[in-house]
Amino acid sequence: MGYVRGLRCRACGAEFPAVQLAVCESCFGPLEVTYELSAVRDSFRRADLAERPRDLWRYRELLPVLDESARVDLAVGCTPLRRAADLGEALDVREIWVKDDTVNPTYSFKDRPVAVAVAKAREWDLPAIGCASTGNLAAATAAAAAKAHLPCYVFAPASLEPAKLLVPRIFGATVVPIEGTYDDANRIALLTADRRGWGFVNINLRPYYAEGSKTLLFETWEQLGFELPDVIVVPLGSGLLLTSLEKGFRELRELGEVADPPRLVGTQAAGCAPIVQGFESPDGRPKPVRRPETVAESLAIGDPGSGFEAIQAMRATRGFADAPNDPDILDGVRLLARAEGVFTEPAGGTTVATLRRAREDGRIDRDERVVLLITGSGLKTPAVWRDAFQPLAPVPPNSAAVDAYLGGLHHG
Ligand SMILES: Cc1ncc(COP(=O)(O)O)c(C=O)c1O
Ligand SMILES: [Zn+2]
Repeated sequence: MGYVRGLRCRACGAEFPAVQLAVCESCFGPLEVTYELSAVRDSFRRADLAERPRDLWRYRELLPVLDESARVDLAVGCTPLRRAADLGEALDVREIWVKDDTVNPTYSFKDRPVAVAVAKAREWDLPAIGCASTGNLAAATAAAAAKAHLPCYVFAPASLEPAKLLVPRIFGATVVPIEGTYDDANRIALLTADRRGWGFVNINLRPYYAEGSKTLLFETWEQLGFELPDVIVVPLGSGLLLTSLEKGFRELRELGEVADPPRLVGTQAAGCAPIVQGFESPDGRPKPVRRPETVAESLAIGDPGSGFEAIQAMRATRGFADAPNDPDILDGVRLLARAEGVFTEPAGGTTVATLRRAREDGRIDRDERVVLLITGSGLKTPAVWRDAFQPLAPVPPNSAAVDAYLGGLHHG
């Protein structure tokens, strides 16, 4: 039994039934799933939530999957919200929480949107699934496809980190390493999916895929005792994660659960910041980047598909956009690891770097309650540390050698 009403165009408001449609038929605008919220209100109760399974399906009334048997169960979501007191001390913020999505099945938040998109692909009996990816989505899609016994095709830049191209192949996916940027991979993936009738999670299943990410907002709300924080810092690639959080907020508000939105703060690397530049320009349109250049490869999307909507969401919630440089991003990764014992990839480091910068210039106040979305694990991106951590020379197994080694160390 489901509560889905249909699809609605974010640009012109046109409504469609909940079929496999990715863009508005009259204006090509982005579509979002709508629900019968008055009916949801009767079964979505705080007291009942506590008893539900500890995965993202605990918010099933607000997810668009109608057939429970279509779900692939990899235990996605319900990740820890960690109180980060030492990080707070370091950055002069009274209350920081780290939403730790590094512990999802394939070590990034992408397992959430994929869970929903793959369930829809199974409901519709699609012959194969796939994605265009900057790395994390490839792993998430490939793992879910393996469990669903569906063929999987991953389009990614050939220049991606070796680990990110390897993982989907372990799961049995076919990786198509595209000569070019993510945007090149995305364009050819769209054409291929169309020609072959495949379901590409972030392309032709996009409105459904987007729904999975808003569970990050629902979980945060539940974990803070049914309250939202003042600020959420969100890494931006296509911008869809941020717009999904804003949609989740609107739904909670319409259900009467919350009143004011958290300030949504988006962050990208300075070497690829089309959404940040768009936020700062009067027209509020992303400024495409032809050649992204940053260690934060998972955010390196030059022509962000949901950038315009992300800018609108940041403006509507009185948030802002920021773009730290690569050294600051890597410092952010190290600070989080050493203060809190959480190892993120550069995308998570951008949130730490932005919080530091925003405290320095006052864009975030010491007394605001801040949540950092740590969206991916550092274990997939060892290559970004090649320069900072040189290989270690072996030490002979005797005390004199160990003493000499320890004596000669400068700690850093
Ligand atoms: C670890 C990580 N964080 C954040 C993002 C940004 O998500 P979106 O593309 O929805 O803006 C990505 C996207 O690939 C990612 O891999
Ligand atoms: Zn439209």
